[in-house]
Amino acid sequence: MANEPYLWGGRFSEVPSAALLAFGASLPVDQRMWAEDIAGSLAHARMLGAIGVLTDGDVQAISSGLQRIAEQIEAGQFVFIDSDEDIHTAIERALVADIGDAGKRLHTGRSRNDQVATDTRLYLKSRTARLINQLKALQELLIQLAETNIDVLMPGYTHLQKAQPLLLAHHLLAYFWMFNRDTRRFEAAHLAANTSPLGAAALAGTSYPLNREQTARELGFVDKDGTPVLIPNSLDAVSDRDFLLDALFAASTTMMHLSRLCEELILWSTEEFGFITLSDGYSTGSSIMPQKKNPDFAELVRGKTGRVYGDLLAVLTVLKGLPLAYNKDMQEDKEAVFDALDTLELCLMAVGGMLSTMTVNSERMLTATQAGFMAATDMADWLVKQGLPFRQAHQVVGQLVLLAEQTEQTLSQLTLDEMQEACSLFDESALAALDIHQVVQARQTFGGTASERVLEQLQLAKAELEQA
Ligand code: ARG
Repeated sequence: MANEPYLWGGRFSEVPSAALLAFGASLPVDQRMWAEDIAGSLAHARMLGAIGVLTDGDVQAISSGLQRIAEQIEAGQFVFIDSDEDIHTAIERALVADIGDAGKRLHTGRSRNDQVATDTRLYLKSRTARLINQLKALQELLIQLAETNIDVLMPGYTHLQKAQPLLLAHHLLAYFWMFNRDTRRFEAAHLAANTSPLGAAALAGTSYPLNREQTARELGFVDKDGTPVLIPNSLDAVSDRDFLLDALFAASTTMMHLSRLCEELILWSTEEFGFITLSDGYSTGSSIMPQKKNPDFAELVRGKTGRVYGDLLAVLTVLKGLPLAYNKDMQEDKEAVFDALDTLELCLMAVGGMLSTMTVNSERMLTATQAGFMAATDMADWLVKQGLPFRQAHQVVGQLVLLAEQTEQTLSQLTLDEMQEACSLFDESALAALDIHQVVQARQTFGGTASERVLEQLQLAKAELEQA
């Protein structure tokens, strides 16, 4: 029979053209889930054995057959054929070719609908676990950088205009907390994936007395007490892809954070800023301009962020119009998810590399804090302490900034006479308040940039990582 190799062959007298079959196939995308597919099949077969649907001999043959297939795929020796629509089809086809009738009994009480949902959940669980580890490594790196640069001052910006001086450590730790929340989001996605759809069959459950607890337990769909977690509705089990959206949103937000960090690395490595120098290994040259050293990898992370957002939007859009239960549209989910997770993993690697190999130009940062009148708020605060209302103090200091700007001086270069002309309350002690180190150390509120507070923040950050 011409349609012999196709799973659904019995009902059909014609098969789609090769081009259409290729159009309908997901094998190029989903073959990376082979290990999850084999694990799912093993659990299903053993359970069928335990409930007496399969003989011990069949279970034995299926187990060893699947084992051989796993070895072949791992060794790159497995041969896919044209009719392999997806990884599920390919493995079952090869199993039947190897062990005969026992292989044809594996799919009893199962559908590719609950099979693909199971595989995808297992796969997502392992990828999110890996991403969480990668995020943790990046957080550790930020802590380490904050510690080695604990005395380095830099300008803080709002509107990308110099605002108030900061400790570089404080700035770096801001990213620590962003990645900490990203980790929480990936943990939530992991939790959402950790529930078993296996046993839902095509959509309605099955007439075989399947033991869903057993397969869930064997596949690791368990809560922290080891109790199996099952999706309670077979329709939902085969239709739900929210867990992928959770992961895609977590990936998008993490990319947004990485992109902001990269944007800063790009700015900071310009000659205009000169705050950091990226290592040669993380920079590229120009084919025409010999002097150029470009922060390509930081730019690529920024650029790839849009691509990950696109993946999120693609899956949201695929799902929004689908009636229950399974629809072939859902096959589009994996390409987007894999792309997002692969992209994020590469970006985390690139950013970790850039941060750990860059040079911090602390002198340049310090010099930059001397310009831009960044002690202006503190000068006003000093006047407030002498009894002047803040609005008025703001006005006085505004005049002095104008004067300094016109005479090309910094605030601390103004003479006491000039200051007293603007406000008679000024005396010698006002000058101390203008010292940029003093300005930083004065910011003692919890979460502020004073050294003591940043050291305290470092301890909180470390405790956060330890409990994770
Ligand atoms: N390749 C399919 C997918 O990724 C597997 C499920 C196919 N189920 C079906 N009823 N056609 O979604």
